[in-house]
Amino acid sequence: MSKNIVIIGASRGIGKELVQLFANNEGNHIIALSRNVEAMSEFDHLKNVTYKAFDLSSSTVLEDLTQILSEIKSVDILINNAGKLVNKPFLELTKADIESCYQTNAIGVMLSTQVVVPKMLNKGGHIVNISTMGAFQGSVKFPGLSAYSTSKAGLVSFTELFAEEFKETKIKMNCLCLGAVQTEMLEEAFPGFQAPLSAKSMALYIHDFALNGHKYMNGKILPVSLSTP
Ligand SMILES: NC(=O)c1ccc[n+]([C@@H]2O[C@H](COP(=O)([O-])OP(=O)(O)OC[C@H]3O[C@@H](n4cnc5c(N)ncnc54)[C@H](OP(=O)(O)O)[C@@H]3O)[C@@H](O)[C@H]2O)c1
Repeated sequence: MSKNIVIIGASRGIGKELVQLFANNEGNHIIALSRNVEAMSEFDHLKNVTYKAFDLSSSTVLEDLTQILSEIKSVDILINNAGKLVNKPFLELTKADIESCYQTNAIGVMLSTQVVVPKMLNKGGHIVNISTMGAFQGSVKFPGLSAYSTSKAGLVSFTELFAEEFKETKIKMNCLCLGAVQTEMLEEAFPGFQAPLSAKSMALYIHDFALNGHKYMNGKILPVSLSTP
C-alpha cells in the first residue's frame, strides 16, 4: 500500500539510504528533510521524493515544518533520524555544544512530532525515533559522549511518554537504539573505527521496522546492535 513518509535527517548516512529504499515502492511519497539541500539533489531522479531544507536546530521548527507539510493531508510514517554528535570531554563541553545536541536530538524532534501527529490521527501512523546504544540503560558507555547520549536519552523517554499519552489513538511510536554503523557521523567522531554494519544494511532493518514494527509494539525501546552489549 502506498504511504506518505517523512524522513528527517535524509542528506547522508542511514537517512539517505532510507529515502532510496522507500522510493523503491513507486506508490510511496517520501518527504526528505535536512539542512544540506545540495546533497539531496542526488534524489532528483526519484520521482516520488520531495526534498526540502529543514533545520531542527532553528528557532522556527514548528513554523518551518508546518509550511513544508502544508500540502500533505496525511502522514503514515515519520522517521526522526537526524542526529547531532559532539565528542568532547565533559569538562570541555560548552553551553553551545550541549544546546546544539539537545536542540537537534530532542527538542527539534518533539516539535516536529507536534506538527506531524495531527496528520496521523485519522489513518494512524508509525513514528520511529532513532537513538543510540549510548542512551540505552545499562549499555557500555564511551567517554566524550555526555551531551550527545543524554540528549538521545531524552528521545528514549519521550517514546515511552508519547505512547502512553496517545495509546487510545492509532498512532504508534517506537525507538531504535543503534549500535555502531559505518557512516560519516561515525567517521567524524571516531576516525578509523570500523563498524560491523553499513548504512545500507541498517537502513534495510529500519525500513522494515517502520513498515511493520507498529503492528506488534508501541512505546518500545529496542537495542539494535552487533557491537555493544
Ligand atoms: N552511525 C552510527 O554509528 C550511529 C550509532 C548510533 C546512533 N546513530 C544515529 O543514527 C542516526 C543517523 O546517523 P548517521 O550515522 O547516518 O548520521 P549522519 O551521517 O551524520 O547523518 C545525520 C543526518 O542528520 C541530518 N541532520 C543533522 N543535524 C540536523 C539538523 N539540525 N536539522 C536537520 N537535519 C539534521 C544530517 O543532514 P544535514 O547535515 O544536511 O542537516 C544528516 O542527513 C542519527 O540520529 C544518529 O545519532 C548512528
